[in-house]
Amino acid sequence: MGNRGWAIFVTLIIGLALAFFSYFIWLGEAHLAFNELGLVVLLTSLLLLLSFGTTIESGAGTSSAIILPLVLPSLYLLGPLWGGIVAALGTIKPSQLKKGFPRHVFFLNRAMMFLAGAISSFWLVFLTDFQFEWINIWIIGAMGITFSFVNNSLLWVGLWVDGKLSRGNNFILFALERVRTVFISVLVAVIFIIVYQSHALPGILILFALVFLFRDVLQARFKHINSFFQVIESFARVIDTKDPYTRGHSERVAQYVEDLGKKAGLSPIRVPRLVQAAKLHDVGKLGIPEAILQKPGRLTAREYDQIKTHPEQGEELLNNIEMLDDLLHIIRHHHERYDGKGYPDGRKGEEIPFEARLLTLADAYDCMTTDRIYRRALSKEEVLEELERCSGTQFDPRLTRILIDMLNNGYYERHLK
Ligand SMILES: [Fe+2]
Repeated sequence: MGNRGWAIFVTLIIGLALAFFSYFIWLGEAHLAFNELGLVVLLTSLLLLLSFGTTIESGAGTSSAIILPLVLPSLYLLGPLWGGIVAALGTIKPSQLKKGFPRHVFFLNRAMMFLAGAISSFWLVFLTDFQFEWINIWIIGAMGITFSFVNNSLLWVGLWVDGKLSRGNNFILFALERVRTVFISVLVAVIFIIVYQSHALPGILILFALVFLFRDVLQARFKHINSFFQVIESFARVIDTKDPYTRGHSERVAQYVEDLGKKAGLSPIRVPRLVQAAKLHDVGKLGIPEAILQKPGRLTAREYDQIKTHPEQGEELLNNIEMLDDLLHIIRHHHERYDGKGYPDGRKGEEIPFEARLLTLADAYDCMTTDRIYRRALSKEEVLEELERCSGTQFDPRLTRILIDMLNNGYYERHLK
């Protein structure tokens, strides 16, 4: 996209926010009662306290989930203009105030927050026309989802235009992961509004506690998920060091499976899961003696039989981890063959899970393209020949076709030196 796309994006978003801002002023939204002014100050400072004290940096959507319990009451109690102002000012982060932080990004962030607030309060404007006097959880829920959606989409487009969208980062997955958090945020927001409306100022102390408790819960949740993935990564590294001839194998297979999965039309939600399965696929080798794994000569039939237990051992090893439930069958079947002559179950064709078939192919591709004790890495022509030869016997023919097309389009050169 380059600089021009980025400049257009920034101008457009800031312009749009200013247009909404002027429109709300024109509607006469600017007037504030004294206690409302107090609320603006209170909510903005609470938000600032939150974002200044937060250390979570696991994607943009996370921050929107954390601020929602305060942004939603702002919009609900103060309306779109002042609610939007609270959202825009309250989300300033310490890093954005440092010298050298690009000023246009600072204003872009404010504009994005204001816009998300303005757009999500359409629900409010629309529904207050009907003179609801009671707190309506559905309005707040709809606002929460809309706010989170607009905020995340704008960030998404921004990263895309700027060319900073990293691989494997997927909007659908990103959004789904956040939906759950939005529900908690909505709940906290509703409690906030009820407490404020019934107890006004004394309730604020409770709110303080509530907001910080909520932040800690969220932080713990994200830390938990992050450390879980770190464990997977170190597992993969341990597996690779067990077998020095396949150093970096799991990482490379993970990369191939991602590229191949996308080309083969695997659902965007499944691609990252398959990548994790790929990182863990040989975890069962931890149960195989190193003397066998690292044996330089030919393996005896018994030794080979032992190696062949690694898919089952892997499945068993991970069996108790709930978060990996949906990956176990991929790990179990990654050595099945399309013609049914593989192991451990001798499954045939479509009986083998699709994702396991993908992994088998990516696994074999890495074997072909790396040096082994008994042979050098294959050239591109040799790989193509081997793929043609094994298509329909060892590999799923449709997937093999896709990989062959990728190789013919420069994939081999891009990933291998
Ligand atoms: Fe394996």
